[in-house]
Amino acid sequence: MRTSHRTVWVSAVAGVAAVASVAEFSAFVPAQSAQDPAIQTALNETFTKFKDLKEGKNADYIPALAKVDPNIYGIALVTVDGKVYTAGDIKSEVSIQSISKVFTMAKVIEEQGPEFIEKTIGVDATGMRFNSIVSVEFSQKALGGPEMNSLVNPGAIATTSMVKGGTRDAVWKSILGYYSDFAGRPLSVNQEVFKSEAETNQRNQAIGALMYAYGYIKSKPEQATDIYTEQCSVNVNAKDLATMAATLAAGGRNPVTNKRVMNAKNVPYVLAVMATAGLYDDSGKWLYHTGLPAKSGVGGGIIAVAPGKFGIAVISPRLDDAGNSVRAQRAIQEIVARLHANPYEVAAR
Ligand code: DON
Repeated sequence: MRTSHRTVWVSAVAGVAAVASVAEFSAFVPAQSAQDPAIQTALNETFTKFKDLKEGKNADYIPALAKVDPNIYGIALVTVDGKVYTAGDIKSEVSIQSISKVFTMAKVIEEQGPEFIEKTIGVDATGMRFNSIVSVEFSQKALGGPEMNSLVNPGAIATTSMVKGGTRDAVWKSILGYYSDFAGRPLSVNQEVFKSEAETNQRNQAIGALMYAYGYIKSKPEQATDIYTEQCSVNVNAKDLATMAATLAAGGRNPVTNKRVMNAKNVPYVLAVMATAGLYDDSGKWLYHTGLPAKSGVGGGIIAVAPGKFGIAVISPRLDDAGNSVRAQRAIQEIVARLHANPYEVAAR
């Protein structure tokens, strides 16, 4: 057995001396352990390091998002054995926005299998903006079929249309209940954000209609776009998001409530699409710096998943041009580096 340099991480999940090799993590079931001060220090120091970073600006194409306090800044990390670490503001809630797409995709994969999503939507990065219409045309005309993914708006609206339920109400309850199971508490909708986006989302309505025209959405495209808009308006704080990410990190069992939310064998499919498309046209840059599957939302949240280790989330509403929170990207990158959580980082041997 080799001695790992990942002292911080090994002691965090297992409460044992840092003697496990990287390969052992996959088979390792962490025991309950005390809080690891090294993780708390990483969060505290990272919080301080980026406290005054004011780059970027709130999304304003959804009018209600322009009014959100741009200074909200909270970090949360939840380990696969249910330890919760936080720094900064973990009380303030923002709308989940595109991070919701991950969990609706997870739901459809649970209900209909990973092949279904692959065949009907695709699992390839578009390399284009999240609400690109050209990407739909390109997929259809140049690539000849479902060559997008559930994390860009066209694929996400179609994915929402595939959730089983019968009535709008049944579908909605099922989606909100599913998100709540991931978060470990009953979540609710920010009605102001929902109304604001519903009044101004003509572009998404057009995308829904186009996806219907091409047969990706089978019926009621207006309803699919409306439910999609509602799912984006669910309110979350940093701890909710970190717990949702940690549930994926823990193979589909919420490590705080211990409820199994997802079949473990379906989790890698969700993480794969997050890795290739979670930060849209900047997904490559993100992966280059962190190696972790992640997802951003224009509400200012970003989640990242260190499989078998932890879920992390940062909320900070100021965004860059790609629609990703500037400070959340910087803070997560910093913490991932400090904790040696990039799975591509292997100790020199
Ligand atoms: O559909 C939209 O435009 C928003 N409800 C969500 C977009 C979003 O969060 C993109 N993420 N970075």
